[in-house]
Amino acid sequence: MDIGTTPVGIVDFELATSHFVFDLAHLAAQQGIDVNKYHVGLRQERFSMPALDEDAVTVGAAAASRLLARTGTEQIRTLIFATESSVDQSKSAGTFLHTLLQLPQHIRVFETKQACYAGTAALQLALALVARNPRERVLVIMSDIARYERNTAGEPTQGAGAAALIVGANPNILEISPISGVWTGNVHDFWRPNDRSTPLVNGALSLETYLRSFTACWNDYREQGGAEASDIDYFVHHQPFTKMAVKAHERFVRTHKLENGSEMIEPSLRYTPIIGNSYTASMYVGLASLLHSSNALAGKRVGLFSYGSGATAEFFTAQIVPGYEKFLHAADFQQQLHSRVPLTFEEYVALHDAHERTGLTDYENPQVTCAPFRFAGVREGVRQYEARTNEEA
Ligand code: HMG
Repeated sequence: MDIGTTPVGIVDFELATSHFVFDLAHLAAQQGIDVNKYHVGLRQERFSMPALDEDAVTVGAAAASRLLARTGTEQIRTLIFATESSVDQSKSAGTFLHTLLQLPQHIRVFETKQACYAGTAALQLALALVARNPRERVLVIMSDIARYERNTAGEPTQGAGAAALIVGANPNILEISPISGVWTGNVHDFWRPNDRSTPLVNGALSLETYLRSFTACWNDYREQGGAEASDIDYFVHHQPFTKMAVKAHERFVRTHKLENGSEMIEPSLRYTPIIGNSYTASMYVGLASLLHSSNALAGKRVGLFSYGSGATAEFFTAQIVPGYEKFLHAADFQQQLHSRVPLTFEEYVALHDAHERTGLTDYENPQVTCAPFRFAGVREGVRQYEARTNEEA
């Protein structure tokens, strides 16, 4: 294979979400506000919420195990775990995944962090590794639990989800262009100090920085030789809440005087309204929404905008590979979404409080999740993960 000219991109992918779902109508009713603030103002309806025996590791493992059941682990010599819901300051949570997924010993495992951008950081690293050696494949797992403090503006934008991707040469689904526009600024729009379980947020600054960085990335992308706006068929944005992506896209459409503006973005917006923010996985959940929306997307060019507070952003493009539709498994993910267990307002509050484990050392979690893996608790300071047996699943 000719290094440098071999197409590289996404060979196959899977998504997962958590056990519970909470309807924002309950939150609006308790707050005594019009639910349209959420349904129309944020374009959010529900969010996924983990059981006590789920975390970013178990949700990520659920997505990756379904993926590896199809692809096997051959050729995988790197696992990159992208998260901002990590469970240790030193040890990569990817090492837990290494055991749960029974990956080979001869593999490098590490974690990336830059808020929601960490997923794209992992993908770009994976593409570079594959470009260097097209015989290798990289497993990228993006997984997050978006948990905000109760009674704050961020509360309706919580969520949970994971995406697992096999990145390799001659991809079946998406060929990713090497041209990117990138931007970084040291901004305090959303951050989570080490002693906190929920982020600190300057909402207005976060919206402004997201929009500003999209323009900056686009300009850089064009300077690097990227395609013209009119040559891009679809857009997928990071989706902290659905309306954020719409706001950024509408501004872009006005600036570039594009026709059919909403048709370019709407197919990517079908999952976030019912999952909520999935941080590192969010843009890839949007990408799956687009791919699952039609079997007639072969050859279309997709613009992808990834944003991570703090803040780093990147815009890049990808082309949908002919025959991609044969590799999609939309019904499995949609079934997962329908199988989530709804929470009442009281159950939501109790579960939100119970997830606050600061100060606890050892504990056991109740057995709740129906997913393939569970977080059993902490013993002698060590997190205990278990694969559920076939009889339990
Ligand atoms: P807020 O202050 O509660 O909401 O928080 P608002 O008062 O600005 O209202 C929101 C929208 O609802 C407005 O629309 C209202 O007009 C509308 P807009 O003017 O913006 O178009 N509205 C209504 N619409 C219809 N009927 C009604 C009604 N009432 C109001 N009755 C905020 C909103 C997003 C700030 C909050 O949810 C928040 O702090 N979220 C967390 C931060 C966030 O998501 N920021 C997004 C950019 S940063 C990012 O993407 C990174 C991130 O994913 C983290 C990472 O990188 O890791 C967050």
